[in-house]
Amino acid sequence: MAIIDKALAGKVALVTGGSRGIGRGICVALGRRGAKVIINYASREDAAREAAAEVESVGGQAAIVGFDVGDAPAVTEAIKAIGKDHGGLDILVNNAGVAINGMLMRFTDEQWKKVMDINLGGAFHCLRAASMMILKSKASGRIINITSVVGEQGNAGQLAYAASKAGLIGLTMSTARELASRGVTCNAVSPGFIETDMTSEHLPEAARAKLMEAIPLGRIGRSEDVADAVAFLAGPEASYITGQVLRVNGGMLM
Ligand SMILES: NC(=O)c1ccc[n+]([C@@H]2O[C@H](COP(=O)([O-])OP(=O)(O)OC[C@H]3O[C@@H](n4cnc5c(N)ncnc54)[C@H](OP(=O)(O)O)[C@@H]3O)[C@@H](O)[C@H]2O)c1
Repeated sequence: MAIIDKALAGKVALVTGGSRGIGRGICVALGRRGAKVIINYASREDAAREAAAEVESVGGQAAIVGFDVGDAPAVTEAIKAIGKDHGGLDILVNNAGVAINGMLMRFTDEQWKKVMDINLGGAFHCLRAASMMILKSKASGRIINITSVVGEQGNAGQLAYAASKAGLIGLTMSTARELASRGVTCNAVSPGFIETDMTSEHLPEAARAKLMEAIPLGRIGRSEDVADAVAFLAGPEASYITGQVLRVNGGMLM
């Protein structure tokens, strides 16, 4: 096993949607590097508890907190409480997201609003509530937004998802510019196709085979692939990287 140093010891990290999938992988990667990880979930408290146990099994510290990132007042209240209970916040990972798929002409206002409120609004709500605390961390303050290859190249049947993920890239660059003078960095990580509940739920075998042909590295991604990129951006080695989009997609988009 690779030796991993405790570069994030003493740091407090909030990972939205940390209960499952990519978010859970991120929680484990940050916990393994010494951060105290606050694991957010929407409804699956059971999954959040499992994620916390995984963080602890690699020697990390974890706490769980349930709130809907799309609910601005709930986010403000929860992040205020995190600051009070854990003495501040150094790292924010905006990972929570939903995919509602459908073709343009049939897509409803409700579907559009839900995707936007959670994927893009959620990141905005968390950023607004947490930025003052993160600024206090000065040069070790880190924000990482999880976008998607779909936000960079579009996808038929995923218009709202793609728009929300493209919006996150604009949000990332603007936040990076606003907070740079204090040494805080803000970057996006753009995964390709990663095996999680979000993807495996609706992918027929034939589509999977076709997808594999589009991935030069010849395999579907794992949560750990994304988590390691996030952990790098959260650490001291990445202090001169801001406003960037780091692609973790097996070469799907170059
Ligand atoms: N999987 C991929 O191929 C892929 C590719 C590119 C980008 N991404 C992005 O990566 C992120 C994670 O995706 P995933 O595949 O790991 O998804 P997932 O397995 O479906 O997990 C989604 C996570 O988000 C949480 N969540 C959903 N709605 C929420 C809300 N309103 N408030 C707070 N938390 C909420 C869920 O909490 P509960 O457990 O409580 O439901 C869960 O922890 C998403 O932003 C997604 O768009 C994924």
